Amino acid sequence: MIGVFDSGVGGLTVLKALMRELPAERFVYLGDTARLPYGTKSAATVARYALQAAEALSGYGIKCLVVACNTASAVSLPAVRAHLAPVPVIGVIEPGAEAACAASASGRIAVIATEGTVRGGAYQEAIRLRRPEAEVHALPAPLFVALAEEGLGAGPIAEALAHHYLDALFAPADGALAADTLVLGCTHFPMLAGAIRAAVGPGVRIVDSAETTARHVRLALADAGLASPGGPGGLRLLATDAPERFARIGARFLERPIAPGEVELIDL
Ligand code: DGL
Repeated sequence: MIGVFDSGVGGLTVLKALMRELPAERFVYLGDTARLPYGTKSAATVARYALQAAEALSGYGIKCLVVACNTASAVSLPAVRAHLAPVPVIGVIEPGAEAACAASASGRIAVIATEGTVRGGAYQEAIRLRRPEAEVHALPAPLFVALAEEGLGAGPIAEALAHHYLDALFAPADGALAADTLVLGCTHFPMLAGAIRAAVGPGVRIVDSAETTARHVRLALADAGLASPGGPGGLRLLATDAPERFARIGARFLERPIAPGEVELIDL
């Protein structure tokens, strides 16, 4: 069983990529919907929540934990790793940073994320570690989260907002050089991929941390000899509040119907 943890439904974009990459694995996904959003909370609070979630998932006998939430990955990974050792813990920041460094020709890389992820500086640090000369611009795009949950990830509102957040970096009016790579550093942002693409244009490399993390998990499991030898796979969904809302909104993120009865309510 592989544990996947997020503040809510957003991490289902990461789960979807994981299930595609690892169809023979069984997954247990925990969305901390009672305490969402994490992106506006302090690092200390998010780290405390993440430890509680990791502890709860360890009770399901997981062989690996994926911290799908960018904000939690940014501020709590060392603590969660220490707590769950020797169970491997994989966050979304390192794979995203690695993919961005590989994708960028110019070294001018933009990262959009929640306020907490940007403030924590983890993407900036992880990118500069790999490419010290990189020019990293990280900026919060908090309204994208609400838009994705409202089901407004595509269309004119999303496109206008994408221009609002991104034009300064990808169509600079002051003669500054545009970034050539954009990291979607938040679970919700793949839901706005079309609108974001329309705003930045066809030449920009867009790095989806969900896809890159799924590949990273597959390789890590294989390296550790922990990959499932085969099987039908499986999924258990847990939420800390409002399972029916989780099922309704989550279905869009997972791109498959979720029956309300499929989501178990748990307390942390
Ligand atoms: N899951 C969060 C992230 O990826 C976004 C939603 C939230 O703020 O809790 O940063």
